[in-house]
Amino acid sequence: MDKLLIKSGRRLNGSIAIAGAKNAALPILAAGLLTADELIVRNVPGLADIRTLAKLISGMGAKFSRSEEGVVTVNASGLTSPEAPYELVKTMRASILVLGPLLARFGQAKVSLPGGCAIGQRPVDQHIKGLQQMGAEISVEAGYIHARATRLKGAKIRTDMITVTGTEQLMMAATLAQGETVIENAAREPEVVDTAGLLIAMGAKISGAGTDRIVIEGVDRLHGADYRVMPDRIEAGTFLCAVAAAGGDITLTQCAVESMGATLDKLREAGLEIEIKGDSLRASMYARPKAVGFRTVEYPGFATDMQAQLMAVNCVAQGTATISEHIFENRFMHVQELIRLGANITIDGHTAVVQGVERLVGAPVMATDLRASASLVIAGLAAQGETLIDRIYHLDRGYDRMEQKLAGLGANIARVN
Ligand code: EPU
Repeated sequence: MDKLLIKSGRRLNGSIAIAGAKNAALPILAAGLLTADELIVRNVPGLADIRTLAKLISGMGAKFSRSEEGVVTVNASGLTSPEAPYELVKTMRASILVLGPLLARFGQAKVSLPGGCAIGQRPVDQHIKGLQQMGAEISVEAGYIHARATRLKGAKIRTDMITVTGTEQLMMAATLAQGETVIENAAREPEVVDTAGLLIAMGAKISGAGTDRIVIEGVDRLHGADYRVMPDRIEAGTFLCAVAAAGGDITLTQCAVESMGATLDKLREAGLEIEIKGDSLRASMYARPKAVGFRTVEYPGFATDMQAQLMAVNCVAQGTATISEHIFENRFMHVQELIRLGANITIDGHTAVVQGVERLVGAPVMATDLRASASLVIAGLAAQGETLIDRIYHLDRGYDRMEQKLAGLGANIARVN
């Protein structure tokens, strides 16, 4: 199994390009099931999660190909089996995103129920409830969601909590429903807006994406489109945290700067100098960061997907930071590993208190989920000595060649077997 070996002592310097957003690319590619025409999607990152979705879609009898340059074509004209098997869904929960498109276009779907998850329970009850409100008959048998509908009907849906993939799921399903669907309490994340952008390019009638009320007027059919996925705001934020912790001067190109407000505010507060030029961010840090407390909330607040990385910055900061996680109930798995590197962190329920230390010391550590892995990389870059990170398959799920990009910025990092 691959591991990452990080040796300390180097500041980060240079320029890298940010990849397309994982959490936009996944719903956008799932939307390819909504049409028999070819969908071309550009700027799709080279990630394990995208390969899982490719397997899932190909297994249904549709065509999926990705070029080296990140151009994906999906052609679901020959889809024979609207089924998502447990073997794939258990490795990636976002597989659930095929449920709405399959049901809307084929009138039936069989999708494995995702099981537990390292960061929280993550049920999909809102996805199911919303589709039922649109007239779907849904049962759960032997671990599978069985869904049927002759044609989905528009409905007024108010989700019990704000859910990102739940909003995307219902929005996709509603594009081909009969009549108008209103989703209230909708997620406002930029990835939801990007998914709506693709659906509109395919002929869907959607308004209000980016607000908490999305209105979809169903159409009889959708057509193919040629669409470019937005840049990954979490990947960009992760590299900014890396330079804030390790020091140096880096430039990130192809950023979705307008979607990164909360992260940029916090990192500036930590002392990172940030200069914005168009879609480029130049960030420099030559002092020890200052501690910054924060709480994770839905967009446009501070993202849970950035919590672990900014915690790693706080581990070497001057002062004490209080961090509250409000989206997932168990997203502090990285804390015990950061403590192995010498961090001073205590947890009380949803809150972690990080007392910055002058130095971390490298050690063998284990990644537990995607963003936890990223926080260990950041801590490893700031630590003295050698850090060996095990289970980096978590990192490969959501970062496109992270170690190559960091090596390009001068970090002493290598993938070892
Ligand atoms: N929830 C329910 N029932 C539902 C849906 C959600 O109780 O039917 C709860 C969840 O358990 C959680 C909260 O609602 O406590 C919010 O979850 P949400 O549904 O918004 O999360 P998600 O859609 O499953 C997406 C991202 C996550 C990101 C969250 C929050 C994708 C593919 N995944 O997950 O990304 O953390 O939104 O922003 O878009 C990551 O990239 O590392 C990652 C985990």
